[in-house]
Amino acid sequence: MNNDMNPSGKGYALVTGGTSGIGYELAKLMCKDGYNLILVARCAERLEEVCNEFRTQGVTAVPLAADLFRPEAAAEVYESIRARDLPVSILVNNAGQGERGPFCQVPLERHQDLIQLNVTAPVTLTRLIACDMVQRGEGRILNVASIVSKTPAPDFAIYAASKAFLLSFSQALSVELEGTGVTVTALLPGRTDTDFFFKAHMDDAKEYQDHSLADPAEVAADGYEALMNGESRVVSGAQTKMMMGMLNAKPDQANAESMHENMQPTEKPVGEWRTQSSHAPSVKERESIGVITGDLVR
Ligand SMILES: NC(=O)c1ccc[n+]([C@@H]2O[C@H](COP(=O)([O-])OP(=O)(O)OC[C@H]3O[C@@H](n4cnc5c(N)ncnc54)[C@H](OP(=O)(O)O)[C@@H]3O)[C@@H](O)[C@H]2O)c1
Repeated sequence: MNNDMNPSGKGYALVTGGTSGIGYELAKLMCKDGYNLILVARCAERLEEVCNEFRTQGVTAVPLAADLFRPEAAAEVYESIRARDLPVSILVNNAGQGERGPFCQVPLERHQDLIQLNVTAPVTLTRLIACDMVQRGEGRILNVASIVSKTPAPDFAIYAASKAFLLSFSQALSVELEGTGVTVTALLPGRTDTDFFFKAHMDDAKEYQDHSLADPAEVAADGYEALMNGESRVVSGAQTKMMMGMLNAKPDQANAESMHENMQPTEKPVGEWRTQSSHAPSVKERESIGVITGDLVR
């Protein structure tokens, strides 16, 4: 182990998507607790900015610029960590995106990218890093799923299905790894005030405009607490817990219909729309992407 890189003695927390929203807030909590950080995102400049911010708190922060849409990227992240001999105590699979739109109108490539980012990258990182954790007899894994994992979502089908996968995978693995010293926790946030909706072309959707949004710092705090307690699953916030109760009480078909309704354009006048996240780090990340709405143009 490279002890020079590990002054806190707590090892590293690897957070994918640590430059914005929930991932940024999770990294902040881990930094406060003395964990060194390995942050993964696409924008190298924004990564450096966030790492510098965490370095001022006295931890080591390693930026790893990687595009997890690329099939090889997750394994390359792992190779880079191994090459630097960085021991990962906490793995947070947080980076994720959605895309609103009728299934047949969203480009196939975008669907494939989302499956790669939301499903294949977390499975790859978990497979590679969990094995090292099991060998060491300690480790914690947090997978950021969603309340949407509990309902089919027309016009958002791939996203909801990807989060259902992540939830099922996390819960199965948490039982499989019992007794190994490694815990797996799934975090289920509800609607949260981040850049997520802009990346997903949801800026005019009822889902974004007509509902209250959770503070990403509160969502991260719920996830972090559950992670440190080794809980297998946490639904963040009272409103999301209520939503979970309602989803569980109704058949999937009825839930799918109300999700479909929420994907439709809002009837609010444009002047009353939310136009950006009120979470400052998420606004900075959008600026670093450099487009007004949607994800990066290829
Ligand atoms: N916001 C919500 O309402 C909500 C609700 C439930 C669940 N979630 C889940 O919470 C997680 C975090 O989302 P958020 O709301 O915090 O979103 P966000 O503000 O858009 O943050 C996304 C983060 O992921 C990184 N990222 C995006 N695409 C990437 C790629 N291809 N490769 C590597 N990194 C990538 C981004 O950095 P770069 O752009 O520099 O790559 C950024 O750091 C996601 O899994 C999301 O599905 C969000």
